[in-house]
Amino acid sequence: MTLRIGLVGCGNISDIYLINAPRFPAVRFVACADLKPEAARRQAETYGIEAVGVSELLARGDIDVVLNLTIPAAHAEISLAALESGKHVYSEKPLASTLADGIAIVEAARARDLRVGSAPDTVLGAAIQAARQQIDAGTIGRPVLGTGAVLSHGMEHWHPDPTFFFKPGGGPVFDMGPYYLSALVNLLGPVRSVQATGQIAFETRRVTTPHSPIRGRDIPVEVLTSVQALLSFESGAEITFLASWDVWRHGLRPLEIHGTEGSMRVPDPNWFGGDIEIAIGQGDWETSDTSDRTFGGANWPQAEPRFANYRGLGLAEMASAIEAGRPHRANGDVALHVLAVVDGVIEAATTRKSVTIAQRCERPEPLGEAEAARLVEGGRR
Ligand SMILES: NC(=O)c1ccc[n+]([C@@H]2O[C@H](COP(=O)([O-])OP(=O)(O)OC[C@H]3O[C@@H](n4cnc5c(N)ncnc54)[C@H](O)[C@@H]3O)[C@@H](O)[C@H]2O)c1
Repeated sequence: MTLRIGLVGCGNISDIYLINAPRFPAVRFVACADLKPEAARRQAETYGIEAVGVSELLARGDIDVVLNLTIPAAHAEISLAALESGKHVYSEKPLASTLADGIAIVEAARARDLRVGSAPDTVLGAAIQAARQQIDAGTIGRPVLGTGAVLSHGMEHWHPDPTFFFKPGGGPVFDMGPYYLSALVNLLGPVRSVQATGQIAFETRRVTTPHSPIRGRDIPVEVLTSVQALLSFESGAEITFLASWDVWRHGLRPLEIHGTEGSMRVPDPNWFGGDIEIAIGQGDWETSDTSDRTFGGANWPQAEPRFANYRGLGLAEMASAIEAGRPHRANGDVALHVLAVVDGVIEAATTRKSVTIAQRCERPEPLGEAEAARLVEGGRR
């Protein structure tokens, strides 16, 4: 059976979901809505679906799953309303902009026996799954320590309206942290506790995005823009995580994990593919390409593909799990755990005290190549 999707939030990220939709036979986009009716109309015309109002979409009987691609501050409002109207929800990250809202979403779904799914689904991509296969096989031994780093000079030079990035629920830890933390939770299991420091390097950020309607405007910064955290995993592994929008240039790898037998470099978890590098003992790095696996080949940007971008994979995997009556992988418990870690990092950076993570999750099942291939069987490449 194909699940019928209603999309709420027709902004920047909605294109890739709509472009990828025909790959996945488990989902069919029916209608879309946005606070700005013209945004919904534009996507409806481009992708051949129906544009409706938000409350109309939530009330419709021919929609099974609400795909919530609104800004983080609206995630809880839309996800809770969708659950109340008896629909499953799949949300962009973070699950919510506060931990309390995230808990409310997961509890509301549980009470109604509905599913919550959440990005990032890059963890189901070829690279993270290939890395996980190696970790599970014991190739680098027991993971002991490592680093994660997401460092840049912000979002105000490319996003049409970067305001939300600098408001509560934004900042590099809330915005980019979920990619790195979800990858680490898939690779190493849940986090037990966190310590952190943080700062704001610039009190305002000037929008320089070409053609932005707010180009030239100064956005007051209300969130930590540079954070350095120490994540202690239940497994015993300890990872240093750096997240900043105050850095001009750097030489750090996105993710490096060092085990008792060897070391591993995992590519940027914002994408679905990339090379895995492994060094055993004193040996040299050996690179394995993941582009020949399902969800590893470059497809983005469309004109000149350089990255694997299969956003929507987590939604399709959730739809097929609903159909099969089994748990889905990019699930609400993982997203809530990641949100608790994000929130815990900010709390630890603010109070300078260690924070224990109360919302734990199970490490999701790996997504093997055969099962991954089945998700696109019969779909349009
Ligand atoms: N832009 C990216 O590259 C990117 C990548 C990955 C994930 N995300 C995530 O996707 C989400 C959306 O990001 P974006 O870049 O598309 O933002 P955006 O501002 O471009 O689009 C958000 C859309 O949601 C609409 N909206 C806001 N509140 C609403 C509400 N209450 N009801 C209905 N519509 C509402 C806005 O009008 C807007 O059209 C965020 O959670 C972000 O973290 C973005």
